[in-house]
Amino acid sequence: MRTVLTLLTLSAAIAVFVNCSPKTTGAITNSTQTETIESYSDEQKVAGKAIWLANCEKCHKLYATTSYSLNQWKNILPKMTKRAKLDEAQALAVRAYIYTNTGG
Ligand code: HEC
Repeated sequence: MRTVLTLLTLSAAIAVFVNCSPKTTGAITNSTQTETIESYSDEQKVAGKAIWLANCEKCHKLYATTSYSLNQWKNILPKMTKRAKLDEAQALAVRAYIYTNTGG
C-alpha cells in the first residue's frame, strides 16, 4: 500500500512538473523545504535556468552566474528577483540554479 501511494505521489509530481512552463513553477517547491545549497532539486535547477534566461536580461545583459561569488549573489539576487517580479517559487528556482553555479 505504501509503495503504491509513493508511486502515485511520484508520478503525480512528475506529471505536474512535465506540464510546467517556466512561467508557472508552482510545482517545483513546497513551502516546508528548508533551503540550503544541498536542498535544491535538479528540477528546481533546470527550471531556474529557464527562468533566468527568460527574465534576467530584460534590463541589462545576462550576467554569467560565475561572474560573482555565492556571497555576492546572496546580496544581488534577492533584489533582482524582485525587480524581475518573480513569484516565490520562481525566485527559489533561480536561486537553485545560480547558487549552485557561482564563481566561488
Ligand atoms: C526591472 C529591471 C531588472 C531586471 C528584470 C533584472 N535586473 Fe539585474 N539589475 C538592474 C539594475 C537597474 C541594475 C544595476 C543597479 C543595481 O545594482 O541595483 C542591475 C544589476 C544587476 C547585476 C550587477 C550587480 C552588481 O552589483 O554588480 C546583476 C548580477 C544582476 N542585475 C542580475 C540579475 C538577475 C540574475 C536577474 C533575474 C532574476 C535580473 N538581474 C533582473 C535591473 C534589473
